[in-house]
Amino acid sequence: MYDGDIASVLITEQQIKDKVAELAKQVDEDYQRGGDLLLVGVLKGAVMFMTDFARALPQPAQLEFMAVSSYGSSTSSSGVVRILKDLDRDIAGKNVLIVEDIIDSGLTLSWLLKNLRSRNPASLEVCTLLRKPDAVQVDVPVRYVGFDIPNEFVVGYGLDYAERYRDLPYIGTLDPKVYTSGV
Ligand code: XMP
Ligand code: MG
Repeated sequence: MYDGDIASVLITEQQIKDKVAELAKQVDEDYQRGGDLLLVGVLKGAVMFMTDFARALPQPAQLEFMAVSSYGSSTSSSGVVRILKDLDRDIAGKNVLIVEDIIDSGLTLSWLLKNLRSRNPASLEVCTLLRKPDAVQVDVPVRYVGFDIPNEFVVGYGLDYAERYRDLPYIGTLDPKVYTSGV
């Protein structure tokens, strides 16, 4: 699949699987307060992580999705966010866990946290599979982090380049020829 497009595998399918199980166990231990946990997945990137995480979680969870888009260039985010698809339900009084694929500048997440906090959930935390080094510059509280990765553009397991590669079961970096040849 995608022969020659992937320069290197950064995180294997097995490493993802092990990490998802580890995060799910940790979340399960932290949420023993009763009442279903409400997972909020951010489309489309978090979809693989969200579904695997929900299945690995030993306790019941309800699934909600949001789609947001940040204005500005496609490779760096501006912090100005537009809601493309909002939650279908009220989250007031719920224990909400945002499930993210990757935090880069943290600007998207910072906006999302503010937005969801204004809806008065009982609790609000973040679980991200990947985090890039720049994320430390913005003060966003991220309780659960899968992998800290180098500052490289990655694809696979939900993450795309021009909507491709989301269906790869692992996370890798792209061969520079992909950026230059155009799809
Ligand atoms: P910020 O910078 O606001 O942006 O934290 C997070 C969003 O930017 C996208 N993003 C990536 N997408 N490979 C991708 O496919 C990457 O390496 C990458 N880095 C950032 C992603 O949509 C994320 O939600
Ligand atoms: Mg993207």
